[in-house]
Amino acid sequence: ADQPLVLGIETSCDETGIGIVRGRTLLSNTIASSMAEHARYGGVVPEVAARAHLEELQPSIERALAEAGVRLEELDAVAVTSGPGLAGALMVGVGAAKGLAVSLGKPLYAVNHLVGHIAADILTTGSEPLEYPTIALLVSGGHTSLLHVRDLTSDVELLGETVDDAAGEAFDKVARILGLPYPGGPEIDRAAATGDPTAIRFPRGLSRASDLEKHRYDFSFSGLKTAVARWIEREQAEGREIPVADVAASFREAVVDVLVTKALAACVDRGVPRLLLGGGVIANRRLREVALERAAAAGVTVRIPPLSLCTDNGAMIAALAAELIASGRRPSTLAFGADSTLPV
Ligand code: KG4
Ligand code: ZN
Repeated sequence: ADQPLVLGIETSCDETGIGIVRGRTLLSNTIASSMAEHARYGGVVPEVAARAHLEELQPSIERALAEAGVRLEELDAVAVTSGPGLAGALMVGVGAAKGLAVSLGKPLYAVNHLVGHIAADILTTGSEPLEYPTIALLVSGGHTSLLHVRDLTSDVELLGETVDDAAGEAFDKVARILGLPYPGGPEIDRAAATGDPTAIRFPRGLSRASDLEKHRYDFSFSGLKTAVARWIEREQAEGREIPVADVAASFREAVVDVLVTKALAACVDRGVPRLLLGGGVIANRRLREVALERAAAAGVTVRIPPLSLCTDNGAMIAALAAELIASGRRPSTLAFGADSTLPV
């Protein structure tokens, strides 16, 4: 086969992801998460995540190779996320990737995590490959970014991102306020199922006319989190019981509304009738529902990779490197390091 066999390493946050692809074909995608170790702290602890990667990398690589039916020596290239993400966590993956590439004498590709999320779509089986240009909305516990992708390997423009909390982080913080366990996204989603999304009108961050001039494609969720906390304090002060389902549904609606509104505004402004969704928050049922509904009304096609490719994973990193190889990109030299704020 002339398609490159690539192993991708992803360690930017709490997932140790190892993926193996041959060109655009997914061979294996193992994910080991240290989430359970972070749960008691109510958020990802960088030092704990980095140590978990160190322990998980070797067994994960072996498992991914076994599942793909591939021997290490057969690999054509190694790929790794060099940023953005948690510095210590990234360093573990970058170090491992360099060691692997050097020992195998194979080229090494350092790739951007956000662009990797976009590349995940390439591995989606049974559907047509992604057409460009597309707008991409990436929402997770670590990022909330809106991008204009003209070419996956050479032309990705960051339109906007969160100015404070990531969307998933907002879910986690509001869940905590409501006394729900961490990670809070799935908990809020469940609680919201029986709630009234119009019960409380929570603020839509950076959506006022005066905000839109400078922050048309940016997001802000910390004001929303504070609004939820204040609302609950007021109710408690009045001695009323907190309607958890209504608060969850109203909060979820505010997040979903602003995400979808801004993503579709980008599609309209840029004349791009395609929207690609990615990141762990895409698991949110209401987000998918509203995105599909409003996009259809706007004549925009929505693409949502399977969830195993939406959350952080190594396959998307390998897929991006395979595209870079196909486009003639030279491998990275060993001079690169982990860059927690790596731009797209
Ligand atoms: O991409 P991901 O798995 O990992 C990182 O961010 O590293 O995303 C996890 C985030 C968490 O904040 C979690 O609460 C959120 O995604 N999440 C959700 C849902 N499922 C996971 N947020 C809203 N609704 C969900 N159903
Ligand atoms: Zn991510």
